[in-house]
Amino acid sequence: MQIIRQLSALRERTKLIRESGRTLALVPTMGALHAGHMSLVELARRQADDVIVSIFVNPKQFGPNEDLDKYPRSEEADAARLAEAGVTALWMPSVSEVYPDGFATSVKVANLGELWCGAARPGHFEGVATVVAKLFNQVRPDIAVFGEKDWQQLAIIRRMARDLDLDVEIIGMPIVRDTDGLALSSRNAYLSSADRQAALTLPRALNDAARDIGNGADVEATLADAKARLLAAGFTQVDYFALVDAATLEPLATHDRTGRLLAAARIGATRLIDNIAL
Ligand code: PAJ
Repeated sequence: MQIIRQLSALRERTKLIRESGRTLALVPTMGALHAGHMSLVELARRQADDVIVSIFVNPKQFGPNEDLDKYPRSEEADAARLAEAGVTALWMPSVSEVYPDGFATSVKVANLGELWCGAARPGHFEGVATVVAKLFNQVRPDIAVFGEKDWQQLAIIRRMARDLDLDVEIIGMPIVRDTDGLALSSRNAYLSSADRQAALTLPRALNDAARDIGNGADVEATLADAKARLLAAGFTQVDYFALVDAATLEPLATHDRTGRLLAAARIGATRLIDNIAL
């Protein structure tokens, strides 16, 4: 596996791939790789001849009081894991390679980017859309794989690709969970063992709410119960626990179309998100 840090070298490599008629998949990540990330890599391997994984902790998607400085980093272990998985190249640019002095452009997906996590983390999705648009232009993949773990992010990237006529097929990968049900996340590393245990209430509350709403329970009351349950379990704040239209992410008062339950809640200093189909 080639480790590439300069855009010029990346372009040389992807040009060779394209000229040889091979298909190329991109898996964007911020590193600290776990089995959730690796499931995207495995899907990409099945879907394309060559796979490029990017590791870039994107400062533009972190708010001023967020965890940019302490975001977990494990470059060497990540590289070894990706090489083992048969990845063609690891694209690991520096911040100045991605955002040189004077960088002034951004991509903003209105509405979709302002709901839910967008409301709780102003500017977050603008940072995500901008870096993903850049990664698409840098790598020019045929397909790109993202996790359903970040349901809103996936919806925003699909919309951006459609709106900007980006010639890339976006593929979503189901959430990979620990054996106890907690969705794998690089941020789980921040949890104390007591908080890790309490955090299980998040997937359980989502599961139970999906079951109850599926059985015809009142939506508003079910969502209120779920929020109360999270707070009782030790979550300090529930940013949202919502039933939404799976594509537009608009809130649904009744379950009358394909829905998704989305939740974000804080436990200690850690913010966890999760979601489930309805
Ligand atoms: P990161 O949090 O590293 O996640 C990279 C990809 O892995 C995302 O598509 C995410 O949805 C997926 N992923 C994370 N945990 C998962 C799980 N448990 N199951 C399935 N997929 C999972 O998301 C980002 O980075 C960034 O915002 C990025 C898209 C790279 C832009 O900077």
